Amino acid sequence: LIKLSRMAESPLKFEIEVRDQTTQARLGRVSTLHGSFDTPAFMNVGTQATVKGLLPEQVESLGAQIILGNTYHLMLRPGSELIDQMGGLHKWMRWDKPILTDSGGFQVFSLADINRMTEDGVVFRNHLNGSLIDMTPERSMQVQNHLGSDIMMAFDDCPPAKNVNEHARQRSAQFKNVGGGNKAKPTRGDVNKLRSKGEAQRQEEQQGGDKSKRWSKGGVDPALGAGMDDAAYIQRVKEANERTIRWLERCKKAHARKSEQALFGICQGGTDYEQREWCAKRVSELDLPGYAIGGVAVGEGPEEIKKVVQFTAPLLPEEKPRYLMGVGYERDILLAVQAGVDMFDCVLPTRNGRNANAFTSTGQIRLKNAKFATDPNPIEDGCDCPACSGGFSRSYLRHLFRADEMLGGILVSAHNIRHFQRFMLDIRAAIRQNDWSLIRTKWPVAFAE
Ligand code: GUN
Ligand code: ZN
Repeated sequence: LIKLSRMAESPLKFEIEVRDQTTQARLGRVSTLHGSFDTPAFMNVGTQATVKGLLPEQVESLGAQIILGNTYHLMLRPGSELIDQMGGLHKWMRWDKPILTDSGGFQVFSLADINRMTEDGVVFRNHLNGSLIDMTPERSMQVQNHLGSDIMMAFDDCPPAKNVNEHARQRSAQFKNVGGGNKAKPTRGDVNKLRSKGEAQRQEEQQGGDKSKRWSKGGVDPALGAGMDDAAYIQRVKEANERTIRWLERCKKAHARKSEQALFGICQGGTDYEQREWCAKRVSELDLPGYAIGGVAVGEGPEEIKKVVQFTAPLLPEEKPRYLMGVGYERDILLAVQAGVDMFDCVLPTRNGRNANAFTSTGQIRLKNAKFATDPNPIEDGCDCPACSGGFSRSYLRHLFRADEMLGGILVSAHNIRHFQRFMLDIRAAIRQNDWSLIRTKWPVAFAE
């Protein structure tokens, strides 16, 4: 009876099969209405309702059991109403296995130079045509309900690292200078025009006239963290945390398909332990089917990532899946698994694959490099992906990229996806056998500095 009532509440089930004896790693399985996936899991990214360059059946045969879609991109084009009308994301893109959708919270950060954040949500410019979009927790839930993903992410406030580095700058730069139209930052007047009631008035009502809460604090740039001092950074992280919890409560209320789609909460808190602890406690109190660690790999270094993940993962409910958002490299994944994280996603395999960067067990290789011109070897000996097992040499792949042939990106994306899926397979085997020596010998890349 208890099990039945639990099932009625949440369409998601998490079973832990094996607990590692030497670390906090767990081997498990998450079940959704579109089937299940093994954990620790790596989710490949299908931002535009496609894992770029590959047929869904290829993605599946490379070992992917769940993929990730994006609220932000799909709401702008073609619009979530259209996808709903066409039968939902699974049917439309011909992927009938589990899908997780991100909420748009992170993309809003990526687009930070052209957005305006208020208590209600974020008004930003559509990077495709310059029009103004009003993104709120309610709107994010509505879009994700339209898409029909199995796991929906809460709409959160994700601030960048204190000294956002070149990598993060590049990440945000990819969105700039795209599309036509007005590129100016939305004004307060824009916000008021867009919303049914004046924003200032609405917030005064909500917050009993506390003017300090109306807008992101002056002097604290809600976007880029570069050059912030410690006090300003912690103030920004605290503000993001409190807002993330208020928005999560609104997400929970607005989620209209609770018996079909599971809502995950996100723990923010940046690199501040006190804020991480506060946020982990508050999200956990909301009794959700799963929890994510957000605000990681937003410009801080690998040492910082490690410390934050090792501190935060154990603070999230033990019996629920834990998801580390946007991470990462093999080294980061291994450390996080051993800290008790169950799910990962990253664009690296496909983005780097399109750019002729191939992952190997000893590190990435740049296939455009002249030294591969007459290299007859596959990307990686022993790899069972279509590129390596198909007999395509590094020499041939180099040629495809130089000639701008589509097959180059397709083959290396397939290889990279398989690389990460094989890595996860070995990680799961290591937990099952309580023996990490296999990882140490087969995956030196995961121990690289
Ligand atoms: N992707 C990577 N990090 C984050 C995060 O903190 N929040 C959301 N919504 N998505 C992410
Ligand atoms: Zn391969």
